[in-house]
Amino acid sequence: MAHSTLRSRLGCWLALMGMALWLTACRPLTIPMPTAAVPGTAPALAPGPVAGAAGLDDPLYPTLGNGGYDVLHYDIDLTVDVAGNTLNGATTISARATQALSAFNLDFSGLTIGQVTVNGAPARYRRQASELTITPVQPVQADSLLTVTVAYQGQPQPMRDPGVPFLPLGWQRFGDDIAVVSEPSGAMTWFPSNNHPLDKATFTMRLTVPKPYQAAANGVLSDTQDNGSSTTYVWQMTDPMATYLATVHIGRYEVITAAGPDGVVRRDYFPLGTPASVKASFAPIPQMMQFMRQRIGPYPFAAYGVALLPVPTGWALETQTLSTFGAGAGGAAWDEGEVMHELAHEWFGNSVSPATWQDVWLNEGFATYFQWLWQEQNEGSAAFNATVQEVYASMLAQDVGSPLPQQPPDLFTDATYQRGAWTLHALRLTVGDVVFFKILRAYYQRFAGSHASTADFIATAVEVSGQPAVETLLRDWLTNPKLPAPPAPSAQTPVIAL
Ligand code: TRP
Ligand code: ZN
Repeated sequence: MAHSTLRSRLGCWLALMGMALWLTACRPLTIPMPTAAVPGTAPALAPGPVAGAAGLDDPLYPTLGNGGYDVLHYDIDLTVDVAGNTLNGATTISARATQALSAFNLDFSGLTIGQVTVNGAPARYRRQASELTITPVQPVQADSLLTVTVAYQGQPQPMRDPGVPFLPLGWQRFGDDIAVVSEPSGAMTWFPSNNHPLDKATFTMRLTVPKPYQAAANGVLSDTQDNGSSTTYVWQMTDPMATYLATVHIGRYEVITAAGPDGVVRRDYFPLGTPASVKASFAPIPQMMQFMRQRIGPYPFAAYGVALLPVPTGWALETQTLSTFGAGAGGAAWDEGEVMHELAHEWFGNSVSPATWQDVWLNEGFATYFQWLWQEQNEGSAAFNATVQEVYASMLAQDVGSPLPQQPPDLFTDATYQRGAWTLHALRLTVGDVVFFKILRAYYQRFAGSHASTADFIATAVEVSGQPAVETLLRDWLTNPKLPAPPAPSAQTPVIAL
């Protein structure tokens, strides 16, 4: 079934690989009230410079991200030896200090650091595991702009993350190609960053690869330079992006470009020799974009397409503007639901990003529900109802718990995908279609280009519906360890009269 393919594949891997032990203490199921979350908010009285925090206190990943500054832009300049899978280059970070800083941290693992400069002057640095602490010669003033350059080289080391036991994360080889898949923590394997979705920034990537390789990345290809034996590809991501969504694909591709709706650039990167049957999986994308546009709003970014790996995978990832998919196993097409799922993430996950990793159902529950809605539109309400009932029965049989993960291994599970999607369905049954889609649109518009928490979603649902009881309903679906009963449908209005 469309709705369960990815989950059941992941389930197999989980069973095969076993669960990694995770040592953070479990936290109680509470939903904090909405706050304007700013990384490292400055205290009211300006004290002397102090070291920025080494983490943002994410409930699942307390050391991801750093306090004391807000990144505006990453300029990542890498020359890649594809045969050896080594790189040489530099990342320049433009940031604004949110407090006076004697020192600050970046998240960066592996790779050998050559030099670090702050505002052009060499700075002292020290690295412990993936925490890179930089001490500038002069303390950084609160509110000042900051330019940090880290030069580095070596072979990126993919990392294990207990949230994704089914594959290593970060920069890695797939067959003869190189690609990056990072959610949630893997970005630190290839560039230094404030590695948390609370701090989104724009990106420029300059990727120099030997001929005949090509390099694709997020956003729009703004320049291609022929250096004789190598080519430099310059990619611009001019809308904010979370570090976990940054990707690079290096290989030999058939690039298919087209004009998309609303001036969106469409470009797909298919490894040479990709069978037509596999490429055809992505043919419905323009109709899917139209479907999202009608229900939520125009596509959020300047470009959209897919980059395929040369090897089959059971998973796909919503890397911003350039979703990553595996090759079809034995020429098999991708399931339409999964193509829809990754596209829906561009609105929910990429434009509106989770404020913490505990809010991941705002990504996975939404993307899964849009898979079901796509089925509802194309196959009718009987097929849709069969899907939601079947998922409900399977959740009941498995005793699926709260969609708010308490530890990393809970992140990408039936609880966040299926119960997350059913949480939206329960809301829809309660308020009816017209109010339901009004809520989703208001939530999207409020938090587009930024991030949102579970409390933000609940507050929006209560406000737009004018029904305080919606809060009780959502809290039950989101925090009750026991699966709630499906609510009785309200007087239903027909799907989408827009
Ligand atoms: N977000 C992916 C999805 O569409 C699942 C996923 C999470 C993933 N982390 C990953 C896939 C890392 C590949 C690599 O559901
Ligand atoms: Zn997803």
